[in-house]
Parts: sequence; C-alpha cells; structure tokens
Amino acid sequence: QKEGYRYFMEKEIYEQHKVLVETMMGRVGGAEVHFEEIEAGFLEGIEEITICACGTSYHAGLAGSYLLERHAKLKTNVAIASEFRYKEPIMRPSELFVVISQSGETADTLEALKQAKRAGLKTLAICNMDNSSIVREAHCSILTRAGIEKGVASTKAFATQVMVLWMLSLHIAKIRHTLLKEEIEGQIHSMVESAKLTRVDERLHERLKKLSKRYLHGHGFFFIGRDIFYPLALEGALKLKEISYLHAEGYPSGEMKHGPIALADSELFTVALMPKNLLYDKIKSNVEELAARDATICAITPEPFEGADDLVFTAARESYMEEFFEMMVVLQILALEISVRLGNDVDMPRNLAKSVTVE
Ligand code: M6R
Repeated sequence: QKEGYRYFMEKEIYEQHKVLVETMMGRVGGAEVHFEEIEAGFLEGIEEITICACGTSYHAGLAGSYLLERHAKLKTNVAIASEFRYKEPIMRPSELFVVISQSGETADTLEALKQAKRAGLKTLAICNMDNSSIVREAHCSILTRAGIEKGVASTKAFATQVMVLWMLSLHIAKIRHTLLKEEIEGQIHSMVESAKLTRVDERLHERLKKLSKRYLHGHGFFFIGRDIFYPLALEGALKLKEISYLHAEGYPSGEMKHGPIALADSELFTVALMPKNLLYDKIKSNVEELAARDATICAITPEPFEGADDLVFTAARESYMEEFFEMMVVLQILALEISVRLGNDVDMPRNLAKSVTVE
C-alpha cells in the first residue's frame, strides 16, 4: 500500500499535488469558486467568522484567517477547540462558526461545534471524512478530498484544508463584492499554480536529506515566519516535534526580539521562511538579528541570503501563496528526513494517535 515509498507520510507528501487538484475539481473555474455544498443564502448576513480546530487543523484555520480577512473582508477569529469550550465564549448569531478536522471525530472540536449550534450560530465543517460525527453535526460541510491519510503526522490533509479556506475566501469575496472579477481570476490562477508546486522535486528531496544531518542535535528549533507564514512556521514546528521528538517552536519572526532571542547561539536552529512576495525585508532583518547572535540558520527563500548557514532555494514565484505551498513541502520533507535519521517510527510516532476522540 505504500506504493514504493518508505512511509505513508512520504507517500502522502508526494500525493499532495493530486489531492489539491481533486479538492478544486468542480469547484473552481474561470472567475468563480462555487461550492454546491453551500446552499444559496447560507452565507448571507454573516458579519464575522470564528474558526475552531485542534493541532494541524488549527494551523490551517489560522492560515485561512489571513485569507478570509484579506479577500472577504470579514473579521475572522481562530480558536483552539479545547480552549474555546471552557472560556464561556461570546457568540453572536451573525457569526459563522467553522470547524476544521481531518478525522471528523476530534472530541474537543465536536463539542465546540455543538456549543456553537446551541448558541444559534450557522455552522460549517471543513472535513476529510464524509459521514463523520462532525459532518453529521454541522449545518453544512465542505469535504477536503485528501483521501485516506494514514501517517499520524498530517500533511496532505493540511494542504487541502488551506486550499478549501482559500477557495472559501474567494467564494465569500464574490458574494460580498470585496474583490474585483480580475482579482478573483488572478487568485484562481495562483491556486492552480500552487497545486502544481507541491509536486515534489527529487533533487530538492535529496538536498533536504543531506541537510538534515546538521540538524539532529542542539538546544532546539525555532521555525519563524510572518503573516500567513507564521501559521506555516507553527505547522513546520509541529511536524518536526511529532516525529523527531526534538523541541521545536513556531514563532512570528517579529516577536523574537521580545524574549526568545535570548536563546540564540549556534546550538539554536532557526528555520526561517523568507518568501519574496510578502514582507521579505522585514523578515530578513529579523533573521539577520538572529544570525548576528550566532544562531544556526536554515533559510528557505528564493533570494540569496548571506546570513544563512544553509539555504534551501525555492524559485521566484508570482504570489506569496505559491511560495506558501512550496515551502510547506520543504518543511514536511525536512521533518521526515530528520525523523528517519533519528531512527524513529515516522508513521506511528510515540504517544500519538491519528484521531483524538477523548478530551
Ligand atoms: O482529525 P483532526 O484534524 O481534528 O485532528 C486534529 C489534530 O489532532 C491533528 O491535526 C494532529 O495535530 C496531527 N497529528 C498533526 O499532525
């Protein structure tokens, strides 16, 4: 079943370009994104969105919030389901409550969904499993078409969740007239390109395999990025800690100087997401500050950058979302190869289960 790959996680990383196309199929065309799952009128009157999820799905939600605010001009809150449940959250009937889940069975996410429903909110599930508890509970569901994901460390499900949120942001933008037709067309073009860019380049994989040798021992990792690359940094750190058991934190790079920079020395590994199309100069100066304190820097970027100990070059792209999807693959493979070198069970990491059905 692994079809020649060493691990399910590896196979699933390599499948991403196909499942992203699947996820767009029949939903994206010309200057429109259309979901037949969403009944006409369902999104009318929505004034705010709250997204609720756990783990990787939460990271996808956080990434989606940047797109929803930017494209649909709707205030978007993102909450971790286990926190949301007990904080006596304020919910307004004009809010759309979106839950995201690969399995559709995560206990905290399901309970948060039930609470929102009881409070009278419209609910929408973005889920990979049809007929799961979450899909049955929500008023309306959009299926991510990632196929069965076996690796405990989620990869292709994350990719499709971000893609669905991107599509949703354009769907709502059309309804609310917050983007011009040409802008939506441009975004759709970029979406199609992004899916293509997740096809794994074997030379890149080899490069990451070699590079992983340097990153096996040290005080720990910081994954840093800004804007939508911050949730991607969180996700890169989560991938690494799940399967390598090394300490890793995702951080907004502009926040490093407010504390974490005190940790910087050559034993601190920093994976820096440096896209050319989004705040490049800002993140560059944040990374330079870390390099000046001798942190070991692995920069993922299309630009030559002198401050780095290792450079993983991505090509120049037209949009930051293309860079997002390309960098996502780099982070997944880096985590995979570090875990392999450490001799860990990539698909069944210790202490973790694929689906968390208890609180
Ligand atoms: O099935 P869900 O998406 O609701 O699961 C949420 C998390 O348990 C899950 O994303 C977890 O963080 C993954 N193991 C991450 O790789």
